[in-house]
Amino acid sequence: MTTPPKGNGYLVRDRVWQPDAYTPAYKTSVTRAPAKALLSFPTSLGEQTGPVFGHDMLGPRDNDLILNYAKPGEMALGPRIIVKGHVLDQYGRGVAGTLLEFWQANAGGRYRHKNEGYLAPLDPNFGGCGRTITDENGAYEFRTVQPGPYPWPNGMADWRPAHIHFSLMGHAFAQRLITQMYFEGDPMIWQCPIVGSIDTRAAVESLVASLDMTETLPMDARVYTFDMVLRGRRQTFFENRWEGL
Ligand SMILES: [Fe+2]
Repeated sequence: MTTPPKGNGYLVRDRVWQPDAYTPAYKTSVTRAPAKALLSFPTSLGEQTGPVFGHDMLGPRDNDLILNYAKPGEMALGPRIIVKGHVLDQYGRGVAGTLLEFWQANAGGRYRHKNEGYLAPLDPNFGGCGRTITDENGAYEFRTVQPGPYPWPNGMADWRPAHIHFSLMGHAFAQRLITQMYFEGDPMIWQCPIVGSIDTRAAVESLVASLDMTETLPMDARVYTFDMVLRGRRQTFFENRWEGL
């Protein structure tokens, strides 16, 4: 049983499970890592109760990266996939109404970004960004093409494994999470200096989506499942249900 901290309603982050900020094999972490010890202070009411998003802010194709940047009658190129799963709190309960934003390279591994340096071509029908909001059970789903791996200027031969970036808001700024999802069976996961900044194999595997062929759409798309866990809001423990929360 994890003991909630004093002072606010959220569990502290597990600094053993999370990667170190300073990991020299991932070069830019050297200048990004805090040079001084972190300070800890209680959250305020605003940080514990916001932000709140409504479904009415979403466009009809926000969760469809195959169509949301495509010209009329055209579609993005690449292996068609559906990514689905749940956003959970630290007790395993679904987190409803949380905003997910996701962005990725195209099927060739190229981002639509002015600072992109990889020579793979842009797909004129693929923007690479989308968003959705979890339902009452914390479930989410979106359609896209599987991104390609790409080289990046870190070491002489460093390539990122295929991945999708996620930003989650949760129910409060104290639950904010930014992470990356990888794909089951990709050998590049274990070559990546960014992934290598994570200490344990179990923690890395928690970032790898599972291929679920039982959900595959015939002649259309494969399905990958990926759950994400936010810090939990402190709950009142029922005396007979310590283990069930
Ligand atoms: Fe990326």
